[in-house]
Amino acid sequence: MSERTLVLVKPDGVERGLVGEVIARIERKGLRLAAMDLRIAERSVAEEHYAEHKDKPFYGDLLDFITSGPLVAIAVEGPRAVTAFRQLAGGTDPVEKATPGTIRGDFALETQYNLVHGSDSPESAERELKLWFPDL
Ligand code: PPS
Repeated sequence: MSERTLVLVKPDGVERGLVGEVIARIERKGLRLAAMDLRIAERSVAEEHYAEHKDKPFYGDLLDFITSGPLVAIAVEGPRAVTAFRQLAGGTDPVEKATPGTIRGDFALETQYNLVHGSDSPESAERELKLWFPDL
């Protein structure tokens, strides 16, 4: 059964010219792009997107970073798309958790600048896709 997930190529990924690399990995896995948009995230969207982390010490820095420049929001679909993309991305900490062969494991060094976001569950995906692609 097909499902959808939200992928963000964060501002560090756009700045470093890694959008094509991320999309290539998504497509080579067999997942499809259902919608895609380059934009600077509004602060209110970023706040809602990361609402579950609002009490974390890094929340302010995370909002500043995610709104700091253009990002690419992508609705990705395919069988078990949520888990499939989380595996492509690798763990949150690109050195301690992400293994080589994953997007973060191959291209990132710092947790804040970990290049991509992927929804962590089908429920999160539904909420996040409504937020980023209300017309989808
Ligand atoms: S937690 O604490 O386990 O719930 O956090 P986690 O799910 O691993 O991460 C949530 C998102 O916050 C980002 N993050 C950080 N940003 C800046 N600085 C620090 N120290 C930091 N730690 C975590 C992390 O990249 C996650 O972003 P997304 O976009 O969801 O991957």
